Amino acid sequence: MMEKDTHNLLINGEFVPAASGETFTTFDPATEEPLAEVAKGAQDDVNRAVESGREAFDKWRAMPPEKRGRLLTQLAEAIRDDIDRLSELETQDNGKPLSQARADVEGCARYFEYYAGIADKIHGNSIPLTHDYTDYTVREPLGVTGQIIPWNFPINLVGRTVAPALAAGNVAVAKPAEQTPLSALEVGKIALDVGFPPGVFNVVPGFGADAGAALASHPDVNGISFTGSVVTGQQVAKLATDNVTPVHLELGGKSPNVVFPDADLDVALNETITAIFGTNAGQVCSAGSRLLVHEEIHDVFIDKLVERTAELSLGAGIDDPAVGPLVSIDQYEKVQKYVDIGRSEVGEPIVGGDVLDRKGYFVEPTIFDDVDNDMRIAQEEIFGPVLSVVEFKDDDEAIELANDVDYGLVAGIFTTDVGRAHRFARDVNAGQIYVNEWFAGGVETPFGGYKQSGFGREKGLEAIESYTQVKNVCFKIDR
Ligand code: NAI
Ligand code: MG
Repeated sequence: MMEKDTHNLLINGEFVPAASGETFTTFDPATEEPLAEVAKGAQDDVNRAVESGREAFDKWRAMPPEKRGRLLTQLAEAIRDDIDRLSELETQDNGKPLSQARADVEGCARYFEYYAGIADKIHGNSIPLTHDYTDYTVREPLGVTGQIIPWNFPINLVGRTVAPALAAGNVAVAKPAEQTPLSALEVGKIALDVGFPPGVFNVVPGFGADAGAALASHPDVNGISFTGSVVTGQQVAKLATDNVTPVHLELGGKSPNVVFPDADLDVALNETITAIFGTNAGQVCSAGSRLLVHEEIHDVFIDKLVERTAELSLGAGIDDPAVGPLVSIDQYEKVQKYVDIGRSEVGEPIVGGDVLDRKGYFVEPTIFDDVDNDMRIAQEEIFGPVLSVVEFKDDDEAIELANDVDYGLVAGIFTTDVGRAHRFARDVNAGQIYVNEWFAGGVETPFGGYKQSGFGREKGLEAIESYTQVKNVCFKIDR
């Protein structure tokens, strides 16, 4: 359905080729066939985009906040109106099942809608400094902000990172991942169509080492949002730090999904599947990739889990199976390598693990049982449909195991014991705690990491803090 014409960069309200004239190909991971040619942004293009953002900034921040908010609302509505086309495009570029792509497009619209409502509610404080002063704070936008976006939730993360930036009066230069550049360009186009001024919302696809690094190191960029791997996040933070540019990092996870015998085990079973297999084939920073099961229910729970896992349908995203292909050959090879590592660490997986003789980057949902928490498959982010099961005997051990990784993005517990759940929430070091539902929360709830999962918060009102700076104004009263 997609023409293989070139998708150009969106800079200063116009779709333009890369300064170099170069393009790159994005693929459909279900077929391994080329999907589209895309202009390959690099340093010169990022420079142009940042420059146009700088020029647009003064007017954008000075626009009455309610008017900015109204534009964001219109963008949200226009994204919703186009949901069929956008979901298909996302599925083709990324591989994920169509109903999940649809939820991601809806999520993108929801971010613009949510932050639209905040645009005119970004308040400062008044501080009672003593009778002789009037003191207040204002929250001001940072200026030109850069959004470096990964391939796992391409359109959703455009909403998550760009919407709060624009609502707070910043302008944006978004750099989608080279594997999935199309939907960000579409959102940028819709923004233009509904009336965003040129230069406010730029989109520069390209490779990380060129366009990404150019954005992170640009001296005239005033804030960077990065979502992706720890290693790249470290590089981005170093580049940004050279210019003392604030950065927030949303990195990976190896999140513990803890099941106690007193849980509703049917719920826990469904949620465990959703947590690692049923959402983007496990390519999720907040995937429940480490299942900690109490010894008393281990056998019965794992038997059912294996049965359910073996039944999961695998197919092209467009046919809306339970599990689609992985995004790229690189990700496929990385995950297969971890399946081999798992085999050498604990032996055969109890389900899955076969190499499939078919086109497309499909990996079977795979479970390793009897995993030791210090094995690599319990410590390292695999980012695919591979689950490591670790057994525990009591609350203390569950909490100790939950915390015994370098990451701290999310942690989930399934239990009906309120005290046990509160203790878990208190003692586990993670930015999000889920109780009795995986991926609990929404656009409204702050999201971000402890430990190596990053710093800074996105989503909710907290994101506005990541995209503003505080100015304190102090008046001495003469008499
Ligand atoms: P990556 O972290 O390298 O890529 C994410 C984004 O950063 C992309 O837009 C990429 O173009 C950009 N980028 C890459 N190198 C850059 C650089 N030097 N400067 C600036 N930007 C740069 O992730 P990659 O290589 O695609 O995936 C590898 C692993 O990273 C995955 O297997 C997974 O474990 C993890 N990952 C985590 C994500 C998350 O949601 N936390 C998302 C994607 C990947
Ligand atoms: Mg693609």
